[in-house]
Amino acid sequence: MANSDSDATVAPLRSASSTTPLPAVIPRHVAIIMDGNGRWAKKRFLPRVEGHRNGAKSVRMVVEEARRLGVRHLTLFAFSTENWQRPQDEVGGLMRLFVNYLESELDLLLRNGIRLRAMGDLSRLPDGVRELLTRNEEKTKDLSGMDLILAVSYGGRDEVLQAVKKIARKIKAGEVDPETITEQMFAQSLYLPDVPDPELLIRTSDETRISNFLLWQLAYSEIVVSPVLWPDFTIDEFYRCLHVFAGRNRRFGKTQEQIDSV
Ligand code: IPE
Ligand code: IPE
Ligand code: MG
Repeated sequence: MANSDSDATVAPLRSASSTTPLPAVIPRHVAIIMDGNGRWAKKRFLPRVEGHRNGAKSVRMVVEEARRLGVRHLTLFAFSTENWQRPQDEVGGLMRLFVNYLESELDLLLRNGIRLRAMGDLSRLPDGVRELLTRNEEKTKDLSGMDLILAVSYGGRDEVLQAVKKIARKIKAGEVDPETITEQMFAQSLYLPDVPDPELLIRTSDETRISNFLLWQLAYSEIVVSPVLWPDFTIDEFYRCLHVFAGRNRRFGKTQEQIDSV
């Protein structure tokens, strides 16, 4: 049987906005590296920030569609720890776009029962961005339709390091014996311990790198690369990626015969 991951849910029979048939299996957690905004702008002789601005439409589309399809957690990589090295005007433009996004999309989140959560080193963000993130997290904290997780100022290595420090402090305080540390316990020290690992990672713009995203959590995720630049990412392309996922064989280190026999 294709895609035997028991954690993924069977697609709901709700009508969707795409004309493409519903995929047979919907991942519980979808993570997306939204890439290609700069190239989208360059092709049009526009400043890079225009690419980011146009990427916001694709964000709205995947958020609405993922919610409609019954995805439980949608994690979007919006800004990496390495992206702080970009030219100041681009970083500034992105921060202003985050503010616009957070102000304009709150209604959509509330109407659709979507909880906003942020992950990353938020201390590096301008106060205005951090305050809006916290305010919207607070306003949506009781909503349970879907988690929209924004990875901002996020680095996978950073996340692993802060988990190591948390555990090291507990060892120092005599609360933890190093010999008893398990994978489960380590995962509990990551940013969002209650969120299961993504079954599916989508990266747009034909890039085949992880780029320091969710290093621990992606251990067994299926990776689907889309050739489309993020601002051009459509519902149909999103569905195509979900169909590719639904057709994958996930073996988790076992043999196909073992997987088929359960
Ligand atoms: C992704 O698009 C958005 C961010 C990294 C913030 P890019 O800005 O990386 O676009 P390309 O890769 O240069 O085309
Ligand atoms: C990854 O894209 C980060 C985000 C999409 C936010 P980058 O464009 O920064 O990654 P590299 O530099 O191509 O690896
Ligand atoms: Mg890029």
